[in-house]
Amino acid sequence: MRTSTMETMVPLVMLLVSLHFVKFSDGRNNHVQRDGKLLSLFQIVTFPNEPCIGNAGKNGTCYTTEECTAKGGSAAGTCAQGYGVCCSFTVNCGGTRSENCTYFESSGNEAGSCLATICPCSDNICQLRLDFDQFIISGPSTLTESLIATKFGQSVLAGQASSLAGACLTDSFSVSSPSGCAPPSICGTNSGEHMYVDASEACNDLRFVLGNQGVGTGIANRQWSVKVTQYACDFKNLAPEGCTQYHFGASTDIIQTYNFAGGRHLADQNQNICIRRERGNCKICFTAIEAIDVAVSGVLADMGFNNDDKKCCGYSPAGLADQGFDCIIIPGLMKSAAPNERLGDSMCGHNAGLVDVPVGADSVTVCSTRQPFNVRFRSDTFETMGELGILGFRLVYTQNSNGC
Ligand SMILES: *[C@@H]1O[C@H](CO)[C@@H](O)[C@H](O)[C@H]1NC(C)=O
Ligand SMILES: *[C@@H]1O[C@H](CO)[C@@H](O)[C@H](O)[C@H]1NC(C)=O
Repeated sequence: MRTSTMETMVPLVMLLVSLHFVKFSDGRNNHVQRDGKLLSLFQIVTFPNEPCIGNAGKNGTCYTTEECTAKGGSAAGTCAQGYGVCCSFTVNCGGTRSENCTYFESSGNEAGSCLATICPCSDNICQLRLDFDQFIISGPSTLTESLIATKFGQSVLAGQASSLAGACLTDSFSVSSPSGCAPPSICGTNSGEHMYVDASEACNDLRFVLGNQGVGTGIANRQWSVKVTQYACDFKNLAPEGCTQYHFGASTDIIQTYNFAGGRHLADQNQNICIRRERGNCKICFTAIEAIDVAVSGVLADMGFNNDDKKCCGYSPAGLADQGFDCIIIPGLMKSAAPNERLGDSMCGHNAGLVDVPVGADSVTVCSTRQPFNVRFRSDTFETMGELGILGFRLVYTQNSNGC
């Protein structure tokens, strides 16, 4: 932890009290008198450069006023008993910052490529957490123009007509990752969501690409404020390796696909949602509040949730007949009611919630005791024609100690 040091006037009251004391003890107590002579008008104050809560809706790092100005930050309130200022840091397109808790903000008139570079704030930074305090860019394509889908040079989707609906063809946001395991590129509305990425010693690039022509959707009134927190390699609550998102601190929370608020899941996703097992719990259950909160693949209207591993997350002929590739993977899925029969790990379907009884009968809760708790959303580049499950999912999870 770095620290700030400053020389400051001894507060007047303290000084007067001291002088008073020295005066009255004069001649009676040499010890006190000798100490009194050492009184200085100045004192040295040292405080750590810790995270602080600013007063303008932004957090920052505690620095002296001079340090904050020199580093290009802006003071938002005080810290360290008033000896420091809560210094917040902002970066816009083209900027570079190496401060913990930097906000990457839009100025409202960006176009084309907008890149901010985040460099390590100290020499052992392992992870970055991006909090999308505000995140509105154009949503994915809605065009259903038919094309022949190919993957690895092969025609996929069994010759079924498909489209690039769901792909971020107007705007996109991506972050570079040194491990090569970069989080998915996203677009649309993601305010309140977050994302983890491995930190690079050579800095990470956060890049918006903003089109000047809407593909299937209009151009959004773009606005973003992305808070970037840096974590040291020995930080106790790092997200486990490979997590796109990490939920912790509560035994219940909401998880959803990126751009759920925008009404359409995105193409080419591998959204790995990690959930910390909170103390005492060994089971996690997932509930769709509304049956329509789950819509991932599926051609038939209101098709029951399919947990057949052969059909979801693949290009098997059986799956393609009534699905698509896109799916949700929850390891160790089982029915919520005794005798808790095992279900497949991968699921797809739409508008019927999470079915844990025979297909067709709505039931909305499924559980797992497999650790670590994890949910993954996978989507390919294409949507098959007539695919109705396009919204994505929004689930509530609850951990409990039943049967531990
Ligand atoms: C500032 O930090 C506090 C405490 O960690 C947190 O509750 C709050 O949400 C943060 N505010 C912002 C704007 O990030
Ligand atoms: C960055 O700030 C967060 C709090 O916002 C803190 O938890 C973390 O340890 C800080 N990182 C470093 C490297 O000091």
